[in-house]
Amino acid sequence: MPRILVTGAAGQLGTVLVTKLRERYGDDNVVATDLKPSEDGSFPLLSLNVLEYDDIKAIIQKHQINEIYHLAAILSAKGEKNPRFTWKVNLDGFINILEAAKECGVKKIFNPSSIAVFGPLTQKENTPQYPIMIPETIYGMSKEAGEQWSNYYHKNFGLDIRSLRYPGLIGYDSLPGGGTTDYAVEIFHAAIKEKQYTCFLNPDTILPMMYMPDAIRATLELMEAPAENIRVRTSYNIAAMSFSPWEIYQEIKKYIPEFTINYKPDFREKIARSWVESIDDTSARNDWNWKEEYNLSKMVEEMIFHLSPSAKLR
Ligand code: NAD
Ligand code: SER
Repeated sequence: MPRILVTGAAGQLGTVLVTKLRERYGDDNVVATDLKPSEDGSFPLLSLNVLEYDDIKAIIQKHQINEIYHLAAILSAKGEKNPRFTWKVNLDGFINILEAAKECGVKKIFNPSSIAVFGPLTQKENTPQYPIMIPETIYGMSKEAGEQWSNYYHKNFGLDIRSLRYPGLIGYDSLPGGGTTDYAVEIFHAAIKEKQYTCFLNPDTILPMMYMPDAIRATLELMEAPAENIRVRTSYNIAAMSFSPWEIYQEIKKYIPEFTINYKPDFREKIARSWVESIDDTSARNDWNWKEEYNLSKMVEEMIFHLSPSAKLR
């Protein structure tokens, strides 16, 4: 039975992933941590700052951890406000996890990467597994460097580190924490509450996205795949859907016809334009049988159902 440590567990992904890990492996086998301790949420949260190396080691030893899901990070838009600190948290924090794992004998680690590793020179459509990268945000730079550190620790120290380049994640039971793809979650809450949304991207800016249940399933399937099947030790491309703000707006309007949108692009438009539009995830499909379940219309139907059960397709 794995004994799991999750860092950054109070975030958009962690909130959902921890619940799933607890269901699967038992509440007592999952130690959820974030910057601030809390007993208020749906699971207890211990305090752990990933910049504190000795604290990471102490928690691993105390709870006899043998697997780590390292989610703690500062995302793309928030990261641009303080680049040096973002680099510190995202990269030094990850290196602390790698070193503590090596010293304490933890063999298996999940380290999420992102479509933010791509840059303006990257092939924009059907982006291959190993393209030119050169990201332009500090977040993307830290994630790309993290991919190289994962590969290095795997090759040199035998750590079984696995990773996905998540697209923008969309879910109903947690809110995003400072990313460029956040609009695709905000738009649902605004459509239901205010019937109006001001989007910080242009109407035609297309980005790869994924519904949270697909992202959680991908994570668990990757982590449970036999080690010999994992051929990519930087991070796997993974895809589900791609759409623009205009396209998701049209889909939501089918349930909320009075919903209106306007566009006020800010600095996040430039970040989004530096990323790619669609992803070739053949390696993930071949190596561990990845296949998405949700496209745009199925995801919108479920989001609306969960956030506003009375809304009907009109
Ligand atoms: P989030 O911002 O919602 O959560 C990140 C969590 O990390 C927060 O709860 C924050 O308190 C915590 N954190 C920040 N600094 C910390 C520190 N020094 N020590 C410990 N915890 C700290 O982000 P998320 O959306 O849940 O993302 C989780 C992971 O998935 C991140 O690594 C992110 O890069 C990756 N990812 C997310 C998306 C997405 O669309 N949500 C897409 C691609 C990759
Ligand atoms: N969703 C994330 C962001 O926008 C991508 O990693 O920052």
